[in-house]
Amino acid sequence: MKNRYALIISVLLTLLLVFALFSCGKADVVTPETTPSASGTEGVDTKGETADNFYDETAADPGASEDTAAPETKALETSSAGKETLVVYFSATGTTKAVAEKIAKITDADIYEITASEPYTSDDLNWHDSSSRTTKEQNDKNSRPGISGEKLSLKGYKTVYVGFPIWWGEEPRILDTFVESYDLSGITLIPFCTSSSSGIGRSGKNLAENAGSGNWLDGKRFGAGASESELRSWIDSLK
Ligand SMILES: Cc1cc2nc3c(=O)[nH]c(=O)nc-3n(C[C@H](O)[C@H](O)[C@H](O)COP(=O)(O)O)c2cc1C
Repeated sequence: MKNRYALIISVLLTLLLVFALFSCGKADVVTPETTPSASGTEGVDTKGETADNFYDETAADPGASEDTAAPETKALETSSAGKETLVVYFSATGTTKAVAEKIAKITDADIYEITASEPYTSDDLNWHDSSSRTTKEQNDKNSRPGISGEKLSLKGYKTVYVGFPIWWGEEPRILDTFVESYDLSGITLIPFCTSSSSGIGRSGKNLAENAGSGNWLDGKRFGAGASESELRSWIDSLK
């Protein structure tokens, strides 16, 4: 009887041992399975690195992203439909752009954005800094910042609205680059600007003088978010 109990116990112990060994084996198998999973985690990390690198690359070469974006901003909806009105504008932070787009909509005009060959950064636009790019340009009446993209064809246009922000009370010098690049004979030019508070001042006259051609009308200043009805009544007053 004792032997029978001993046999049963030893069989049970053996079974327990086999079970324990099996369990350990299983755990070992799990570990390698965890490894790919860990390498999967590495994969996630790698993705993370890739993403970081991606952003780093973009940050390290802002010019590259600007170059990539440039063709879009340079896009000119030319007078393909035989339109006689064109809205040309320069806008560093989007305020003038919004007004220009409304004018183009109201007048059913083509629209063209003047973009700088060397885009203006926020440091460039810092008017608190006496040595910033814009401060230097505005202090130099002969400064003529470059314009990117192909030269515009003004053929067929009779009226051109010319929009810009006020910088130090005047037109940004890149507008002078623009008007000096074209023969504006036979075209009526209508300046408009946006500003925090300053009026258009001498800007329109400066542009007319520097252009040396074209029939320049008096311009008008608008605040940010000028309404369509405000713009429409101004446009109607020009007729
Ligand atoms: C360099 C610089 C100079 C500025 N000078 C004037 C100024 O003399 N008077 C004014 O009312 N606003 C001034 N502003 C404000 C802009 O005219 C105004 O924010 C404008 O609507 C910006 O237009 P944008 O977004 O099309 O570039 C200046 C802005 C900058 C960046």
